[in-house]
Amino acid sequence: MNHINIFHTSLELAKEIARLIQQKANEKAACNEQLYLAISGGNTPKLLFELLAEEYKTSIPWNNIQFYWVDERCVPPEDDESNYGVANDILFNQIEINESQIERIKGENDPSEEALRYSGILSSQLPVENGTPSFDLILLGMGDDGHTASIFPNQLELIKSDNFCEVGIHPTSGQKRVTLTTKVINNAVATIFLVTGKNKAEIIKEIIAKKGNYTKYPAANVKPHNGNLVWMLDKEASMLL
Ligand code: 6PG
Repeated sequence: MNHINIFHTSLELAKEIARLIQQKANEKAACNEQLYLAISGGNTPKLLFELLAEEYKTSIPWNNIQFYWVDERCVPPEDDESNYGVANDILFNQIEINESQIERIKGENDPSEEALRYSGILSSQLPVENGTPSFDLILLGMGDDGHTASIFPNQLELIKSDNFCEVGIHPTSGQKRVTLTTKVINNAVATIFLVTGKNKAEIIKEIIAKKGNYTKYPAANVKPHNGNLVWMLDKEASMLL
């Protein structure tokens, strides 16, 4: 069952995500626990990071959030392409947060070795359910081609991977990336897709309607075991629903 929330603008969507992060982090802080949160890269989350840095700077218990990444480009952290680098510039540099709260994928490392290293970190740091690390919340994006994380349509075998992390390859640029697999993604307590823009409307329609060969899109293979998946869409991305 797909839960779909439609927002008039991408700003309203970002505000709802920020509110949810605040709520979940406060709940964890009240029990002196950590919120295990995995964030994606790309452009969509930038508005969320700006909002968190500006309007939630002092109203979120940042040291009760453990930040991880859904995927990372295999570039150094200071590279413009780095998902960690973007989040660090927009968010982490603007708030009071212990470095130990931020567990980046090291894009500067050998991709295969880093996939193994990060898998080990997830296994040792996160709660484990079904023998697999379990995030409290995963924030996913969806590309124009229906990819999510760094699982691309021409690498659907990663959907079946038994590993926690794999090396994805961008189909046009050839850029390597370390990515969570659906084994981990589908094991989360809560999973939210943040999708904006009319260029994604057609694929959103196919996935939500389960139309045609919709499972060719990696994003369509995000099926959390507990069914807790919410699509948060702006007006444009949902225009064909
Ligand atoms: C990445 C992301 C990727 C992203 C989608 C959507 O590293 O690029 O993790 O999966 O979520 O490509 O990107 P936009 O938000 O830029 O559309």
